Amino acid sequence: MKLSIVYDSKTGNTAKMAEYIIEGVAQVAGAEAKAFSIESIDEAYVKESDALIVGTPTYNGYLTARMKAWLESAPVKLNVAGKLGGAYATAAFIHGGGDLAIQCILTHLMVDGMMVYSSGQAKGMPVIHLGPVAIGPDLDSFAELFRIYGKRMAEQAMQISSK
Ligand SMILES: Cc1cc2nc3c(=O)[nH]c(=O)nc-3n(C[C@H](O)[C@H](O)[C@H](O)COP(=O)(O)O)c2cc1C
Repeated sequence: MKLSIVYDSKTGNTAKMAEYIIEGVAQVAGAEAKAFSIESIDEAYVKESDALIVGTPTYNGYLTARMKAWLESAPVKLNVAGKLGGAYATAAFIHGGGDLAIQCILTHLMVDGMMVYSSGQAKGMPVIHLGPVAIGPDLDSFAELFRIYGKRMAEQAMQISSK
């Protein structure tokens, strides 16, 4: 089972959190993940993937314009329909809009026909509501949350994967 992560990242925070998600995915037997900046996506790998997680910095209370523009045109061409979708964000403030950024991404993924998932409260603690948000500058304090998110997304993707 393959899982792709596509992120926007100007100063590296959102790219860094993708690596923690990959560590969590790797804890699931038979699962692998790769992360791509929206500037350099391996389209073949994303098309082969059973799940797509999208990451964005929080800009002005929600997702970046660059990520919004990417979401408007790209995923539908990457065979995402019917697959598992998820989203995460990084932000500077706990009240800065990370949740809304995630909600906007999940809306796009649903419109493209994806089944969106986060694990919610179904897996106990830590409860992951819409998706994980890492607040800078101490991003490493969110590492385990992002690993757990990656593991849960991979476990769910394994359940619906045909491979
Ligand atoms: C133009 C701009 C707008 C931002 N707006 C917000 C915001 O509304 N809320 C917030 O919590 N952080 C905001 N931030 C902080 C970024 O979300 C945060 O630093 C993020 O981790 C950067 O991700 P990156 O290193 O992957 O580019 C903003 C940063 C920039 C550059």
